[in-house]
Amino acid sequence: MRPPVTGLPDHEARRLLQVASGLDAVGVGLLEELEPDQEIRYQELIERRLAGEPLQYIEGTVQFGPVTVKVDPRALIPRPETELLWERAVQALGSAGSDTVIVDMCTGSGNLSLALHHAFPEAAVFATDIDSGALALAEENLAGKDVTILAGDLFAALPPALQGSIDLLVVNPPYVSERADLPDEVDKHEPHQALYAGANGDEVLARLAAEAPGWVKPGGWLFVEIGEDQAERALELFHGFDCEVQPDLAGRPRILAGRRS
Ligand SMILES: C[S@@+](CC[C@H](N)C(=O)[O-])C[C@H]1O[C@@H](n2cnc3c(N)ncnc32)[C@H](O)[C@@H]1O
Repeated sequence: MRPPVTGLPDHEARRLLQVASGLDAVGVGLLEELEPDQEIRYQELIERRLAGEPLQYIEGTVQFGPVTVKVDPRALIPRPETELLWERAVQALGSAGSDTVIVDMCTGSGNLSLALHHAFPEAAVFATDIDSGALALAEENLAGKDVTILAGDLFAALPPALQGSIDLLVVNPPYVSERADLPDEVDKHEPHQALYAGANGDEVLARLAAEAPGWVKPGGWLFVEIGEDQAERALELFHGFDCEVQPDLAGRPRILAGRRS
């Protein structure tokens, strides 16, 4: 069936039809009309979306590389540029055995840890976050996976024994300035602790840069997501690594890739 006129773009209305009916895209295409209870549910979903709630929170899951991740307002919605960061990190590390240590700091929903565990099932993967809500969601996403989930402020979450032994550190930290004017859909719905770093936006990056050299082993890799106006500052901050800033698919400088010399 074609979605009735809703005020939403057609592709969004179709996705909400799938949620309301429990059918996939093909099933929705073959559907003639909704059952009365599905119709009520559909109208509720349309209203939530028209009120600005992100589509991904309404759907409840996102595809992140090879894995499906449960999402809700306890954590940031994983973004395509972070998926690219995952791809680049996997390419850089190449392979991993049981003695390989991977840390996903600021894990949020656990998306990067889940995808890294998928790519390197033998590696020891650690997922950390400071926020108890995000950690609870990460636990749901990582249930049954051999990933260690730890609570704490950046490196303070990690066992001291990991100092100097990390093969791959990935971080998508908060990097937005509190002065930034984010769209309402982001600012009003996603956790502020996941977005805002402080007055300048580089506060968490600076703390990461100061401590990371003590944790990543010589020859180990570092991948950090940054804001598109932070490339120069990030290169300055992470001088303990041989770094470059890589563009995302739109050509914006969003990924700091470094190797510990
Ligand atoms: C930008 S989100 C990234 C979430 C997820 N890794 C992703 O890529 O979608 C940043 C995450 O960092 C966490 N965070 C913020 N400050 C932190 C800190 N000082 N120590 C550890 N985690 C922190 C937030 O709770 C949030 O989950």
